[in-house]
Amino acid sequence: MPFSPLAQLRGLVLLLPWTAYLLGADVALSLLLPLKLLFPTLVFNASSLIANSVWAWVQRIFVTWNHASIIVSSNQRLPKGESAIVVANHVSWTDFYLIQEVAQRSGMLGRCRWFAKNSLRWVPFLGWGLWAMGMPLVSRNWTRDERELEKVFRGVVQKKWPVSKAPASPPPNTSPAPSGAATTTAPS
Ligand SMILES: *[C@@H]1O[C@H](CO)[C@@H](O)[C@H](O)[C@H]1NC(C)=O
Ligand SMILES: *[C@@H]1O[C@H](CO)[C@@H](O)[C@H](O)[C@H]1NC(C)=O
Repeated sequence: MPFSPLAQLRGLVLLLPWTAYLLGADVALSLLLPLKLLFPTLVFNASSLIANSVWAWVQRIFVTWNHASIIVSSNQRLPKGESAIVVANHVSWTDFYLIQEVAQRSGMLGRCRWFAKNSLRWVPFLGWGLWAMGMPLVSRNWTRDERELEKVFRGVVQKKWPVSKAPASPPPNTSPAPSGAATTTAPS
């Protein structure tokens, strides 16, 4: 899709400050890495705080500045701070905005950990941050991914880390699963 020079300039103006911030976040996440062995939960919490600010900014660009309207329909609100495993009907890469919106309403934006494609590792600035904050990067080859997934779920299961992993359901035996959906209208 061709963009007019003005739209390109607008894109730059919106994205450059965020990219600079992302670079700072990468540095902060990297500095936390050596502490991970000794204080894993503290590092997980701090990484989540940093991630929250980065993702909230992305969300603001989409919703506030680009006027996307996200409609969340559900017969039940996800409780604040509830951990969830979210299975998305991944029809377009923009669905992360929808998942982030739902996570944000539950105060879990910074706790989102995506099963991201391994190749995202090579996206400048973003890839390093994803890796440093412990996003599960998968190759879709089970032989290779098994260890990565085991590592990811160890934090959730053993250390009881709150997490929102990319419709969401409450733990069994608590309440019926909310049937929910988020839709968006793309900005023109
Ligand atoms: C990490 O965050 C959780 C949830 O906010 C909190 O209960 C816990 O005390 C924090 N732990 C550390 C070590 O910061
Ligand atoms: C998956 O990974 C294993 C170990 O690296 C490799 O031996 C195997 O050929 C891979 N399978 C596919 C379908 O790529």
